[in-house]
Parts: sequence; structure tokens; C-alpha cells
Amino acid sequence: MTMIMLGVWMAFVYCTIITWAEEPSPKVHALDDGLVLIPPMGWYPWNNFGQEPQNEQLIKEIVDALVSSGMREVGYSFVGPDEGICFYRDSNGKLTTNLERYPSGLRGLGDYIHKKGLKYALYTDAGTHTCSKAMPGTKDHEFEDMRQFADWRCDYVKIDWCNTEDLDIVKTCTKLHDAQHAAGRPIVHSLCSWGEGSPWKWAAAVGHLWRTSGDICEPGRADWGNAIEIAFANEQLFEWAGPGHWNDPDMMIVGMPGLSEAQNRSFFSLWCMMAAPLIAGNDLREMSKSTIPILTNLEAIGVNQDPLGIQGHIVRVDWSDIGIDETAGLYVRNLWTHETTGPHANGISVTVAPDDVALLRISKINAFPLPPIIVADSYLVSLRVTDSIAQTLSAAITIKNKGSDDLPLWKVQKSLPGWLSVTVTKNGKNQTLTNKISTAGLKKGLYHAIVRADNTEPVSGKPMSTIYYDVDLEVLNDVGGVSK
Ligand code: GLA
Repeated sequence: MTMIMLGVWMAFVYCTIITWAEEPSPKVHALDDGLVLIPPMGWYPWNNFGQEPQNEQLIKEIVDALVSSGMREVGYSFVGPDEGICFYRDSNGKLTTNLERYPSGLRGLGDYIHKKGLKYALYTDAGTHTCSKAMPGTKDHEFEDMRQFADWRCDYVKIDWCNTEDLDIVKTCTKLHDAQHAAGRPIVHSLCSWGEGSPWKWAAAVGHLWRTSGDICEPGRADWGNAIEIAFANEQLFEWAGPGHWNDPDMMIVGMPGLSEAQNRSFFSLWCMMAAPLIAGNDLREMSKSTIPILTNLEAIGVNQDPLGIQGHIVRVDWSDIGIDETAGLYVRNLWTHETTGPHANGISVTVAPDDVALLRISKINAFPLPPIIVADSYLVSLRVTDSIAQTLSAAITIKNKGSDDLPLWKVQKSLPGWLSVTVTKNGKNQTLTNKISTAGLKKGLYHAIVRADNTEPVSGKPMSTIYYDVDLEVLNDVGGVSK
């Protein structure tokens, strides 16, 4: 399969698939939370593990592997349990951690994940119960449950659609969105109705991504044929995807038993070109030598993370049909061999082995820049103060950009509590957000703030990335002085 995708970032032309429909469908995207303006990247346990092995130790081991394998450094961030019996509903109707499986509590797991510079993902279901009926669903508890997810410091929730008889899908997802909004924590909503209710037509107003198909495999074994069918169904929905609202052809099967190295490469290329969420589903603790370079191929990831957010679409045409002058000298970058050739006139010829892929970018100039890829060293600032004399404390978070070019300074939202101020400084491509905490006049107690920072595309002025992180302050004694 050879595809060519077009995308533009900061006036450079990327090439690797396809043409666009003449008139894009009207977009209903209505969320201004800045979340997942580029497709989310992360890991979920379901494809490889299914339900039973999931527990705190497994998730923590995966988190550690995500960091040590280098996956965090190329943008993978959302991680946490899928349907893994991590909570139940207590007799008062409140969601409560299953402490046998998650002894640190779901909040404790979230803190662990945030301190590692990753984002916390959880799972629920819009019906009475999750699919296996092992966990409660949110039906009739939407507002309390979203409050609980916020209290657990969740950043991303996958909302399944099992056991939803009699529920209207649009109304239900709207209610869950309203509930999340009321809970006050920005959370990515990943809707999982397997395409039921054609969510691409309406869900951008109430969520951030939606499954377009049934499950990609049974837990534990990849299914290449099913994955390819899903890809070809998903690509047809290309008009409906864009920044902050994505078609989701399911979690990835790269690195799972059942796929060859060539198939892993092809699969990853397809998901990158389709602007699909890059949610790995393999066992990150045991990756073969070829799996890590595939999952961490920054040049392929760059195609996926293009801020334009245009989903690739299949065409079988001449280059001239997609606006490329065939006689002009063009440079071709092979994103798997990492070689550039050219200038070529009148196209190029590529031989592709069965099930393998040629993933190419084409440019008029010999430059193939990477879009911004954002990595943080931590998403949690946590301080404890014992002193009753006023002081100013400081804690920094470093935001790295693995893209080619410097980003403008992150802009921190204005409305922070009086005890917190944040300044941003630049050091090469890294930026440091310094959190200054003034304890003057604070009473004994727990203080919490969510900091939002935005980055804006310099040419178009469009929002490009938003990050959120938590600041916790524990004050053990009343502090003298006056709060500024
Ligand atoms: C559905 C989803 C899967 C997984 C399981 C859990 O089948 O599509 O991705 O979350 O539920 O039971």
C-alpha cells in the first residue's frame, strides 16, 4: 500500500497521502478547553491484557516502561486502567477505589502518573454497568461520577457504551459532558460506541474523540485482517476529524503477538496518516528490538501530530491531481529509512514488500521539519509547609519541545489563586514554568490549583497546544503575614 498524505505546518509542505473532499462538512466542534488539539498519544491495557491482570502494579510497571523506553520523550502521555475492576459503587452511591487491586487508591495512582510527566486515563461506561458487568456505569450517577473522576485527578476518560438499553446516545453524552464541565476539571472525553449513533456527526460538541469501529482484536492477539478493515472504514470519515475532535479506529496493536515487523510498520504508518489517536496497546515491559523504533519514530509521529489535524484519505491518482507539479524537482523523505533523495522530476518509483509500507514526505525544498511535540518532566507540583512564618516557595516544571522549531512562550491563564503565580522562561527549546507560592496569611489546610498554559501557532494565530497541571499545597499551621 502506498499512500501520499498532505499536510502543511508553518508554510512548509509535508507530503505523504491523498486528496481532500471538495467541501469539508460543517464542523460542530464547540469545546474551547484546548484539549487534544493534536491526536492524543498514550497507552491503555485492553488490547494486550483484557480485564483480569490489570492492577496497580501492572499499571505502574507500564508507566515506568513508557518512560524508560523513550516513549514519553516522543509524546506518549495518557496512561491508566481500562475495564480493570478498579472501582465499585459503595452503599451511598459513591465510586470507591477497589483497594485490593489498587492499594494506593485511584488518586494515588494518578499522582504517581503525574509525577512521571504523564497524564492519567481512566475508564467507565455510560450504561448501568461496564461491558463485563464487573464495574458500575455512570447511568443516573453522571454528575457524582464525573466529580469523582475529577477528584481522582483524571485527565482522560474512555466512556464505553455497553448496557445502555433505552438510552439516547446524544443526550447521554451531552449529559456526561455537562457533568464533566460542572466538576471543573478539564478531561478528555473518549467516546466508545464502536460507531453506533454515527458520533462523528455530533460528538465534537461534547467530546474529543470517538470510536469508529468495533474492537480491533480479542485481548492478547493482534488481528491484522480486522485492523486493515477498520483502517479502510475509518479513512472514509476523514472530513469529520480536526483539532480537538478525532476519529478513533481503536487502540494500536503494534508490538502485539500476531503481527510481523512489516505489519507493525504499516499499521503505525496508517494510524499516523489518519490522525488517529496513538494509544499503544502492547506490553511495554517486553518490547522486541524492532517495536520500540516503530512506536518512537518521531518522523512518523510528526505526520500524526501536525497541528493542522487533517486526516489522511486514500487516493489513487497522479501527483498533478493533488496539486503537485510533476515536472518540478521535488525532495522525497522516506520516514522509515530516514533518507532524503531528490530533487526528482516526474515522480519516483518505490518497491514495497508484502504488508510493508513506504511512508514518504514530499517537499519543494530540502527540509522536513517536525511539528511541536510536547513533553513535560512533571504534571504535579506538590509542596508541604510546616512554618508559620510567611515565605515564598518555588517549584519548576520543564516543558520540552521535540519538534524542529522553538515555540513562542507558553501563556499562563490569568485567573490563578492569590497564593500562586507562574512565570515562564525559555532555555533553548525547553521552557520552564516557575510556580511561586506565597504562604502569607494562609490558614492551615489543603490548597489546590489547576494551571492552564497555551501555545499559539505563530503564523495563523491559532491555538496549537494547551497544557494543564496540578499544584498542591499543604499548610500544616496557620501562617502569619498578609496574602498579596
Ligand atoms: C469495549 C471496548 C474495549 C474495551 C472493553 C472493556 O469492548 O470497545 O476497547 O474497553 O469494552 O470491556
